[in-house]
Amino acid sequence: MEKFELDKTLAEEIRARALGDGFMKLVQSVRRNGKTFRISLRPVLIGGAARYQAEMNDEGQVRVKNFDAAGAAEGLEEIIAQKGARDLHLMTASGDLHVRVTRKGHVLVSRSAEMDRAVKVQPHDHVKKLPLTSFDSSALLRVIGLADGEGRVRASMRGKYDQVNEFLKVVEDVLKDRADRKLHVVVCGCGKAYLTLALYFYLVQALGYSDVRVVGVDRRADVVRAASEMARQLDVADKVAFLARDLADLGNAEDLGAGFAPDMVISLHACDTATDEALARGVEWGCRYVVSAPCCQHELQKAIGPQSDAAFAGVLRHGILRERLCDILTDAFRAMILRILGYRTQVVEFVSPDATARNVLLRAEACARSGQAGAVSDYLNLRDYWHVTPWLQTRLADRLDPFLKRFG
Ligand SMILES: C[S@@+](CC[C@H](N)C(=O)[O-])C[C@H]1O[C@@H](n2cnc3c(N)ncnc32)[C@H](O)[C@@H]1O
Repeated sequence: MEKFELDKTLAEEIRARALGDGFMKLVQSVRRNGKTFRISLRPVLIGGAARYQAEMNDEGQVRVKNFDAAGAAEGLEEIIAQKGARDLHLMTASGDLHVRVTRKGHVLVSRSAEMDRAVKVQPHDHVKKLPLTSFDSSALLRVIGLADGEGRVRASMRGKYDQVNEFLKVVEDVLKDRADRKLHVVVCGCGKAYLTLALYFYLVQALGYSDVRVVGVDRRADVVRAASEMARQLDVADKVAFLARDLADLGNAEDLGAGFAPDMVISLHACDTATDEALARGVEWGCRYVVSAPCCQHELQKAIGPQSDAAFAGVLRHGILRERLCDILTDAFRAMILRILGYRTQVVEFVSPDATARNVLLRAEACARSGQAGAVSDYLNLRDYWHVTPWLQTRLADRLDPFLKRFG
């Protein structure tokens, strides 16, 4: 391979443009042994601080690393010192620089006409941005598999992409009055970590949170292994951790990691009573916020049948109607229990019913007095009408019973 160094003046121009004002992006592609290795460097704001983000793409394997200015300058020297055939494209507010080094070591340089990209034409301002388009989420989306190598959202992942965006909108709204920029979040039944990793980046890069830690919990060791690897690839493994545990087996918040003090518990389609377990954990860990989109629910369907209520017999004899009624009752009981325990609770639709039938979401904030008479009597009236004991009541009996006994 021909030994080759960039001309000193050209190297100096690259340094000045990449580390100076108006730097937008630098991309270098290197072809080696028939393979292409691509590295890009761009300025980012992380928790309000100026940083540089490098993205390394080795034949589709993406890895991201964040640097301060000194680290970026060091990385830039490696880029400049790169040997062999390569293409370098540097974008700045004032224009583009292209450097192409051929296999034989010929250097072809081209510069665009002078530009003034700093003066940005805003897009139609009535177009509302999605959370995942409000910051540069391209590396995130590629690593978690919602986007393909070109950065396009995969058709097969469109539903999950929409769910994550809508969930993030709710989280943002729940947090809108929060002044503290610290947030520790537990994601219960995190599965493949789409929401877990997206939430971390959204909080830090779009909402400007500076102290964010997220722990994803799932009882499946294989998904936890894959999620941990993605956090490593995105260079956030020290901030986003994954635990292969059953939610029911977790003890106090210390189990989530040293110094981890959860402010929020979230869950997206955690199966069956795992949703209740997530709500119970949120209460027990003293979380201020609980946001949960429940999944399938079987428990009340065993307890409620055509014999349960003569007036409802016409509804309950049809499986699909009984299932829907039981889903509604389960979520109503969940909301009412949170309300008794001092959470201001709302039940909302978070995605269109065309996207998924599981489109109900509970959002709750601990900001009310526990055990209010109205909340308890509403609960007891509905519970006793149907002669059932919701799973969440049993799960949180030590906290609920004193209130239920007082009014029951
Ligand atoms: C339907 S998936 C949803 C995954 C993810 N939240 C999403 O929306 O892509 C439900 C996940 O909850 C996990 N899960 C169910 N019950 C659990 C429990 N008791 N403890 C921990 N994880 C649980 C499952 O292993 C599964 O990965």
